[in-house]
Amino acid sequence: MKALFLVGGKGTRLRPLTEKLPKPMVPVMGVPLLQRNFDRLKTFGIQEIVLSTCYKPECIEQYFGSGANYGLQIHYVSEDLPLGTGGAIKNAERYFDKEPFFIFNADIISDINFGEMLRFHKRKNADVTIAVTRVDNPSAYGVIEYDDHDYAITFREKPKPHEVVSHYINAGVYIFNPQILKHIPAGRPVSVEREVFPKLLEKGKRIAVYKGCNYWLDLGTPEKYMQAHMDAFQGLYRIDEADFEKEPIYGRFNAKISGKAILRGPVYLGKDVRIEAGAIVGPNAVIGDRCCIGKKCRIENSILWNDVTVENGVEIIDSIVADECRVGLSTSYEKVIFAGDASKRLAIS
Ligand code: GDD
Ligand code: MG
Repeated sequence: MKALFLVGGKGTRLRPLTEKLPKPMVPVMGVPLLQRNFDRLKTFGIQEIVLSTCYKPECIEQYFGSGANYGLQIHYVSEDLPLGTGGAIKNAERYFDKEPFFIFNADIISDINFGEMLRFHKRKNADVTIAVTRVDNPSAYGVIEYDDHDYAITFREKPKPHEVVSHYINAGVYIFNPQILKHIPAGRPVSVEREVFPKLLEKGKRIAVYKGCNYWLDLGTPEKYMQAHMDAFQGLYRIDEADFEKEPIYGRFNAKISGKAILRGPVYLGKDVRIEAGAIVGPNAVIGDRCCIGKKCRIENSILWNDVTVENGVEIIDSIVADECRVGLSTSYEKVIFAGDASKRLAIS
């Protein structure tokens, strides 16, 4: 079975983290989000992947190449101008001719059991199956109304609060039968959410709604990106290599940690990290590869990407620091994102 990943979005809401990186390449505990999702798919035996790229495609292609180093076979389909989610799916049609296939929004993490979702799709004899999840504020998503037999009745993308008819939303994971692709117009931008799904329902096509999703998050904003890490520290979102309950300080690969530094788990350490005397790191701190944490620093509830230098005495709380930043000057930063020369406030409570 094959999977198509929609990775062409600009990641506008994640700026400035996405100034240099496309959204699917932002690190989730040191590993690109896309790779985390591929690793999960592999556990279900899915190894052939089509990537529909648009924004900064070279970044993704340089990292994964043919996929061979990751145990995958990866095909790339690139757009010069954004075709929208539906246009991107249509554009990849040549790879999907026989069997049903998965489609993923590339900015989500979940615990969906893909094997079970496929069995459900077949049992429901569906043309399309959409994974759904329940959220309190559905307005920012695709809202789905469904009948007693778990078939969709309406699909409404980002309705106004007073138009919301259900708390179940599109989780951004689909199974499509290849025959359904002929209903998507070619050669122009198309939104699968605004145009294709409503039209398929109008035509009486069977869209089944799969509700087997316990953990789910769209990482499309810095606040959600931060939440994904906090969830991983708490074990709500499982990452393969680290179990923070058993091993609160993960990493220490070639780390130089002063005997006078304090590490308060859960902490995720990358490779070749240096932490100086008097520094307090954690709880809930990700320290990327080759980061240097100066004397008497405090790093708490924060994510540092690679090659970050934190000067002596600086405090970083509830913040995100992107690659190669040097943080100094002031003594305390709270709810800030640093990336390149840019910084931005984080709206977390
Ligand atoms: N190739 C390509 N071309 N990919 C695209 C394009 C495009 O023009 N536009 C968006 N994408 C990709 C993005 O990279 C992302 O992986 C996915 O399509 C969805 O785009 P987002 O920008 O993240 O959409 P959203 O979060 O506002 O809404 C979508 O996801 C929600 C769940 O997280 C919708 O599918 C909603 O219905 C859904 O509830
Ligand atoms: Mg999104």
